[in-house]
Amino acid sequence: MTDLTGRTALVTGASRGIGRAIAKRLAADGAHVAVHYGTNEEAAAQTMAAIEEAGGQAFAVRADLAETSELDTLFAGLEEGLAGRPLDILVNNAAVIDYSGTIEGATPDGFDRLFAVNVRAPLFLVQRALPLMPAGGRIVNVSSGVTWFATPDVVYSMSKGALNVLTRSLAQTQGRRGITVNTVSPGITETDMNSWLSQSPEAARGVANMVALGRHGQPADIADAVAFFASDDGRWVTGQTLEVNGGLLLGPPAA
Ligand SMILES: NC(=O)c1ccc[n+]([C@@H]2O[C@H](COP(=O)([O-])OP(=O)(O)OC[C@H]3O[C@@H](n4cnc5c(N)ncnc54)[C@H](OP(=O)(O)O)[C@@H]3O)[C@@H](O)[C@H]2O)c1
Repeated sequence: MTDLTGRTALVTGASRGIGRAIAKRLAADGAHVAVHYGTNEEAAAQTMAAIEEAGGQAFAVRADLAETSELDTLFAGLEEGLAGRPLDILVNNAAVIDYSGTIEGATPDGFDRLFAVNVRAPLFLVQRALPLMPAGGRIVNVSSGVTWFATPDVVYSMSKGALNVLTRSLAQTQGRRGITVNTVSPGITETDMNSWLSQSPEAARGVANMVALGRHGQPADIADAVAFFASDDGRWVTGQTLEVNGGLLLGPPAA
């Protein structure tokens, strides 16, 4: 555990999957967490309930990140929940994948929809959040291993590559304000985005064979790495990408 007592955090896409695990972990460490969600109010309520049952503090904020205008809704809810306090931690986690976004299947509309959520939203969220962030602030972007290993879903991979570039640029420009900016890059992790993992034991075994530690990831595996960057322990690390994947594709499967 790290100590985030008295800090505030916004986690986008905290209704489900990795975002929910991050929100739970930051709240367990003492942060007051804004649980952002897009449409799934029930899932967001479950995240809130889990946080509160564990003794943590949270409030929910809804906004469809595909719509730039909804950032106003998000920040209205955020500032109301912060009640005059600064925003110490921003985790850009929400994203969508489009398995039809291959070189053959990609369409301009599909490209625009995916980039709106995965790239445009984090950029303008940071732009709006920075005035609320004090020295010692933390930004963590959740990217993906698909920035360094090839998959057919080129549109999604390109969006995550753009996010990695955002991290490096922001780390440089915000360093003098004492704000660190890092990327956590999950490997193959069991969430709704990867529902095929829980539906097919064979697929799960195939993934396990590609991972040095011999299994696929769980959301909490990723959340614990985010907590490091969000904490004082991470104060001297900025502009970096941490691959959190159990040793994915390190080499041929162990005998
Ligand atoms: N799972 C993996 O194996 C894996 C691997 C590498 C990287 N990642 C990255 O990890 C992050 C979390 O992924 P996940 O697997 O946890 O995803 P997930 O289970 O599909 O959850 C996605 C979250 O993003 C929110 N979201 C999606 N579209 C949105 C929109 N238009 N507006 C607002 N919120 C929206 C969802 O809100 P609602 O609940 O309201 O829909 C949900 O909270 C993503 O950045 C993903 O690219 C995942």
